[in-house]
Amino acid sequence: MASRLMALWDWFDSRMPSVAEEFRKHLAEYYAPKNFNFWYFFGALSILVLAIQIVSGIFLTMNYKPDAALAFGSVEYIMRDVPGGWVIRYIHSTGASAFFLDVYLHMFRGLLYGSYKQPRELIWIFGVLIYLTLMAEAFMGYLLPWGQMSYWGAQVIVNLFSSIPFIGPDLALWIRGDYVVSDATLNRFFALHVIAIPLVLLGLVAAHILALHDVGSNNPDGIEIKKTKGPDGHPLDGIPFHPYYTVKDIVGAVVFLALFSVVVFFVPEMGGYFLEYNNYVPADPLKTPAHIAPLWYFTPYYSILRAVPPLFNSVFPGVAMMGLSTLILFFLPWLDRSPVKSIRYRGGLYKGAVAIFVLTFLVLGYLGTEPVTVWGQAGAWLGYADRATIAARICTLLYFAFFFLMPWYTAIDKTKPVPERVTM
Ligand code: HEM
Repeated sequence: MASRLMALWDWFDSRMPSVAEEFRKHLAEYYAPKNFNFWYFFGALSILVLAIQIVSGIFLTMNYKPDAALAFGSVEYIMRDVPGGWVIRYIHSTGASAFFLDVYLHMFRGLLYGSYKQPRELIWIFGVLIYLTLMAEAFMGYLLPWGQMSYWGAQVIVNLFSSIPFIGPDLALWIRGDYVVSDATLNRFFALHVIAIPLVLLGLVAAHILALHDVGSNNPDGIEIKKTKGPDGHPLDGIPFHPYYTVKDIVGAVVFLALFSVVVFFVPEMGGYFLEYNNYVPADPLKTPAHIAPLWYFTPYYSILRAVPPLFNSVFPGVAMMGLSTLILFFLPWLDRSPVKSIRYRGGLYKGAVAIFVLTFLVLGYLGTEPVTVWGQAGAWLGYADRATIAARICTLLYFAFFFLMPWYTAIDKTKPVPERVTM
């Protein structure tokens, strides 16, 4: 049997040798640092979740109806009548949250080990593009069940675009395809969610990994392993990705899938954080829910939006700050002036800044889920603002301080000597 399989492989290989060549280049002979740790699971896990989302999405599309009159009912039909439909839907909804969780942990690893620093700026830039694309994908997907939150969430977010000076109202109209969120909006969001954005995502992930394999992976010590090569030309501190890291990543995938299954089978709504209760009510354009909040992965930015007071009755300052809070990520490689990459060899200033930043991001995330009474009230400055708004304002300042003060505190921070070779 084995020899027959080998013969089949030889037949294939002599006709299309590039497959084996790519396997060698990107797996068997891709030398990765031997000191990868827990934080290096999340890149591979993000690929796994991307695959889960595409496959479960294909099956959902077989029974979903992108029509304002039928969409909500078709999702209920999937949940109740399609064999296995409920599990496919819960896999997809849980997958969305798992995707963001993975990607946030993956980005955090970048902060820990300075993985965005020279020569990996492009890997990081492709990463930020992936992150923004993922946000668009999640936002459009959320409209599809056509529940109250789908409808009003989209209404609020698209309306934000209309606050942009000069082009805003036309831009919002162009995005919706109508004066309000309607069937036309649902149709275009469906087209973008199921085909256009996934294609862009796949292209970006390919570019991300090609860029990574050209310069090589960073590691928890932030040392360039290509600098110390053995007589065979391979890095002394590197090991072939296959089988060493394929095996490690399989262990990560099994643990991840176990946790993922617990959520899918036992707590798919996750207390309203993964699937909101209000979204079990069909969209009603005549009834605005009392409290509109996006899902947890957007709430830090939603908090920033609400923290910035309106100017001349326009929410544009908040919208601009929210945009800036994501776009600033692109500049991280140039804001960080430290001579070392890994947090292991950095001083207290950077460690403190990262700790405050993480706390700030979590608090902003929490505040974004809470109703804030003064939002949108012109002049709701200091005096009128409730405690949550004040907290959100302080956190917004800290969020931006992390980035804008980075060139200063990373330049003066004390660093420890970086060893020549990786430590285990
Ligand atoms: C669909 C989403 C993503 C996928 C599938 C993905 C995939 C990967 C994979 C497989 C690796 C190599 C393994 C590892 O280092 O864990 C990697 C490395 C990396 N990724 Fe991503 N990634 C995604 C999103 C992002 C985002 C949003 C960022 C940052 C904004 C980012 C930044 C990086 C960086 C800097 C590295 C190099 C890390 C190092 O060598 O230390 N990635 N990515």
